Amino acid sequence: MIILGLSGALGHDPSAAIVVDGEVVAAAEEERFVREKHAKNRMPVESARYCLRAAGVAPGQLDAVAFPYAPISLFTPARWHYARRYWYAPDRSLDALLNGNRRYRRNRARVRALGDDLGIDWSRTRFEPVEHHLAHASSAYHLSGFTEKTAIMCVDGKGEYATTFFGCGENGRIRRIKEFFDPDSLGGVYGAMTEYLGFEMLDGEYKVMGMAPYGDPARYDLSRLIQPRGRGFEVDTRYVNTVGLRRYKENGVGYYFSDRLIDWLGPRRMGDVADEPYVHYAAALQRMFEDWCLKLMETYVGDVLRESGKLAFAGGGALNVKLNQRIVDLDHVDELFVQPAAGDSGTALGAATSVAARHGDRLTRMNHVFLGPSFDDQDCRDALEAAGHRLQWRKLEDVPRETALLLTAGHPIAWFQGRMEFGPRALGARSILGCPSTPGIADRINEQIKFRERWRPFCPSLLDRIAPEVIGTDHPAPFMTITFDVAEAWKSRIPEVVHQDGTARVQVVEREYQPRYYALLEHMEALTGNGVVLNTSLNRRGEPMVCSPGDALDMFFGCDLEYLVLEDYLVSKADDE
Ligand SMILES: [Fe+2]
Repeated sequence: MIILGLSGALGHDPSAAIVVDGEVVAAAEEERFVREKHAKNRMPVESARYCLRAAGVAPGQLDAVAFPYAPISLFTPARWHYARRYWYAPDRSLDALLNGNRRYRRNRARVRALGDDLGIDWSRTRFEPVEHHLAHASSAYHLSGFTEKTAIMCVDGKGEYATTFFGCGENGRIRRIKEFFDPDSLGGVYGAMTEYLGFEMLDGEYKVMGMAPYGDPARYDLSRLIQPRGRGFEVDTRYVNTVGLRRYKENGVGYYFSDRLIDWLGPRRMGDVADEPYVHYAAALQRMFEDWCLKLMETYVGDVLRESGKLAFAGGGALNVKLNQRIVDLDHVDELFVQPAAGDSGTALGAATSVAARHGDRLTRMNHVFLGPSFDDQDCRDALEAAGHRLQWRKLEDVPRETALLLTAGHPIAWFQGRMEFGPRALGARSILGCPSTPGIADRINEQIKFRERWRPFCPSLLDRIAPEVIGTDHPAPFMTITFDVAEAWKSRIPEVVHQDGTARVQVVEREYQPRYYALLEHMEALTGNGVVLNTSLNRRGEPMVCSPGDALDMFFGCDLEYLVLEDYLVSKADDE
C-alpha cells in the first residue's frame, strides 16, 4: 500500500509522511518549508509535495490519505465526559453533545481541498481518518520494532477529546485499555503552567523542564491541580485547563489558567531569568507530572510491563526527557521506545502506519530520523554562488577531520549534512556543533546565535562504543528523548553538555546511519580523548530548523558564527564583511 499521512488537525505542527509497503520513505514538517515555527493554522502543502517527490509517487498512485483526527461517536464516553466537565461553559458543553464532530468535518474538508490541489483522485484514493491518540500510539508501537507484547502510553494536550491513552500492542495490533478525556489532561496542565511560567505552549515546556532542576520540588505543593479520582485523576479547572469566563486575561489575551491561580501563586512570570519562586513551581510541576504519569502507567499497563518490559511512548508528553529517565530506571522496564517525533507532527507518521498495519503491511523499527530532503553538490554550489561575494568557500578533502580540527580549536560550527531530521531534535544533519571540553563554548554558542536562556542545557552526541561508559547503560538512545546520569569521571571531561543535576540528554550515534558524523566523533576522540560533540539545532531563536542550503546561508549571515560546513564545503564570511 502507498499511504500519505498528513497532520495538522489541531491547528499546529502540520506535517506529511509517506509509507510504501510498510516502509517509511519520507517525512517532514511543514514549518521547515514555510519557515514559520509550528506553521500554525496551515495545512501540510509543501511537506506533502516533498513526500510524494521523495518517494517518486504520483498523486494518482496513492492508495490512501491517512489523517490523525476522526469522528467520535456519541455512544462512547468521550463527548459526555467533556460535556459534564465543561458545565461552566454551557456553549462548549452543549456543542460537544449536539455538534461534537464539527472540527472533524472541517478537517476533512481541508484535507480534501489539499488533495485536490495535489492532484489526488479521490475516486481511487481512500480518505482514512485515524483517532488522534491511536495515531500517536501507532507512531510509537508500530515503529518500535518490538515483537513481544508492548505497553503503550500516549500523553498530550488533547486530540479530538482524549488526552491520555493506555494500550497494549500485540502481533501488530493495538488494544485500547484506558483513555482520559479533556479537560482531564496532564499535558494540558503542563501547558497551562508553562504559560503561567512565562513561556509559550508547544516550545516552553522544554524550558520549564530545563528550569526545574534549579528549584526544590518540595517547596510548594501543587497537588490541588490534579486530584485522584477512582483509579485515575481529575484536573481542577478552577485553576488550570480553564476556558471561557474563568480564564485569566492580560492585554486582551486569554490563558489556560485562571485568576484564582494568580491569587494563589502570584503574578505570571516574565523574562529570561530562572528566579524564585518560579523555579520551585517548575520543579514541583515537573515532579507532579512525572509522578502522575508513572502512577497511571503502573495502574493501566503495569502488568504488560511486568510480562515483557517493553514500553512505546508518544504524544507531546513523551518529549519530557526527565520523565523518560525515571521510566527507564524502573526495574520492570527493559526498553523504552519514544517516537522521536512524539509531538503532533509525528501523527502524520502514526496515521499512515496505523492504516498500513490495518492492511497487513509489515512495519519495522524506525532506526533514524533522516527522512527529510537532501541537497546535492550542485544545489550547494548554486546557493553559494547566489550568496556571492559575501562568502569564502572551499571544498574540504576530509570533512570529518577538518571539522574536528576547527571544533577543537574552539570554534562552534554550523553543520549541514544529508537528509533533514524529522521531529524536533537536531541529530547531526542540521546542527550547530561545539567541542564539549572547550570551556565556555556553550556561552559562546548562545552569544553568537542561539540566544537561549542561560540556564538551558546543551546536549551531547557521542560514539556508541563509549556510551555505556559515559551514561552507565546500553539502553538505546538514538533520538535525544531520554536523559541519563553522566558517570562521575565524565562530568569534568565534557562539562559543557552536563546539566545542573548531573544528567545529559544524549544522542548515541551509530556508524550505520550516520557514517560522516560518526567519523567526526572519532576524530574528536583522537584529538581530545572524548568521542563527543555538543549538538544543538541549526536555527536562530524563534525560527524553525534550517531545511535547504539557502536557509543555512540566510541563517549564517544573520548570526556571528564563523564557519558553516555545508556538505563538502567549508564556508566562512568574506574578510571585508
Ligand atoms: Fe497530539
